[in-house]
Amino acid sequence: MIREITVILVGQQTPLRQALTALNEGGLGCVMLVDGDQRFVRVVTDGDLRRAILASDDLDQSLAGLAPVTPLTASEDTSAATARQVMNRAKVVHLPVVNADNRPVGLFHLPSMDAPILLSAPHMGQEERQLVAEAFETNWIAPVGPHVDAFEAELADLVGMDGAVALSSGTAAIHLALRLLDVGPGDTVFCSTLTFVASCNPILYQGASPVFIDSEPESWNMSPGALERGLTDSRKRGKLPKAVICVNIYGQSADYDAIGRICDAFDVPLIEDAAESLGATCGGKASGTFARFGIYSFNGNKIITTSGGGALVSNDLAALDRAKWLATQGRDPAAHYQHSEMAYNYRLSNVLAGIGLGQLRLLPARVEQRRAIFDRYRNGLHDVPGMDWMPEPNWSRSNRWLSVCTFDPDVVGLHPYAIMRQLQQHEIETRPVWKPMHMQPLFRDAPYYAHDEDHSVSDRLFLTGLCLPSGTGMVAADQDRVIAAIRKVLGA
Ligand SMILES: Cc1ncc(COP(=O)(O)O)c(C=O)c1O
Repeated sequence: MIREITVILVGQQTPLRQALTALNEGGLGCVMLVDGDQRFVRVVTDGDLRRAILASDDLDQSLAGLAPVTPLTASEDTSAATARQVMNRAKVVHLPVVNADNRPVGLFHLPSMDAPILLSAPHMGQEERQLVAEAFETNWIAPVGPHVDAFEAELADLVGMDGAVALSSGTAAIHLALRLLDVGPGDTVFCSTLTFVASCNPILYQGASPVFIDSEPESWNMSPGALERGLTDSRKRGKLPKAVICVNIYGQSADYDAIGRICDAFDVPLIEDAAESLGATCGGKASGTFARFGIYSFNGNKIITTSGGGALVSNDLAALDRAKWLATQGRDPAAHYQHSEMAYNYRLSNVLAGIGLGQLRLLPARVEQRRAIFDRYRNGLHDVPGMDWMPEPNWSRSNRWLSVCTFDPDVVGLHPYAIMRQLQQHEIETRPVWKPMHMQPLFRDAPYYAHDEDHSVSDRLFLTGLCLPSGTGMVAADQDRVIAAIRKVLGA
């Protein structure tokens, strides 16, 4: 990243001709001007030299005649990420690195720097652009149209449900599911604690109260034991929850055999938050299809994306019709815009559904690619002491949306947060495992059922887990860079 600079240091008495030769040999598009003590004066770019020649037409004049500039420099501990930010802000491609004595010791050269590696960047295929163009050509620029219809049909078909409703987000889908189940003020809704806040915010939209359920260690998803304890307590108090939202974290299904059985026994409807797990399976059946309502997200960071979007799936077609009606402002059947119920503007645009259609057709390939990314990490880091991986029970086939590892703090001596900060210096984006909802200030008063009464699995996962870059747009060399950086950070 930091280039050797000995060949491109030039003194103030150097003639333009010689500076041009040095610049040519350096191949970085600049030389560095230093004073008699070898202290940094300024960067001289090929543009600076060209302008000096045009102004005087004298190749033997010295660099001392160049106009002074305010020098922009980095220190020896400046990270690549910070250097990139400084250069982008200043609109320059060279950033000299100077030591404490202001002597040049290196150079950040933007075009030769490795690109940042992101956590889960969108990955477009060939067909999406053409499908979006089709929406433009036919002028279906609206939250209805043939792409929306086709997207819903193909999604329902792919996962094996009777119907799907395309929406503006996964959050909207959860909100509509709660509305369809008549969740309202005074109700409680059980929800997995180890998730993104979008799983449970809609509980608050409906004026209801969440109760959080811990994970179990086998899949990191909702603990059947904790769920059963919570439901038993609720029954004793004479008020069962109106719904259970079970989340499939990081692309892995929860244990629906057990969870479905428990919800049925207490006669509480289940919503499956499969925002992260489209393409995964549980016992061979598609993720998102185990509950009365399943939801998916097509946010930009998901395994497939519509840039932003979501879907509600169900075998209850009457409920899906009502969901569509609620998602389009709940118009009564009258031409004069009559409304009898509060509703929402939650439909997916036909333009974005075009992106979704192209992406949906890539889903099987994307699942295999994400799984291969996970395997490459696991193989490349198998010998690092104290490092472990998100498990995959034998009834589950995860889509490995994100590759997640854990670090035993007693062995590694570093919290994942510290590892994340150090990887950031290498322009590698990672994230700690979701902060559980029962630990969030927003939900400080919400009841919580841990896996064992004296052992919270999600607390431990939050303290030890780290999500690694998992986008399918990465190439093997990117992953090797991540693996090498992790080894360096851990001294392994
Ligand atoms: C588990 C989970 N549930 C719900 C959502 C909400 O999806 P969206 O961002 O499409 O609203 C997300 C993702 O953002 C998620 O990760």
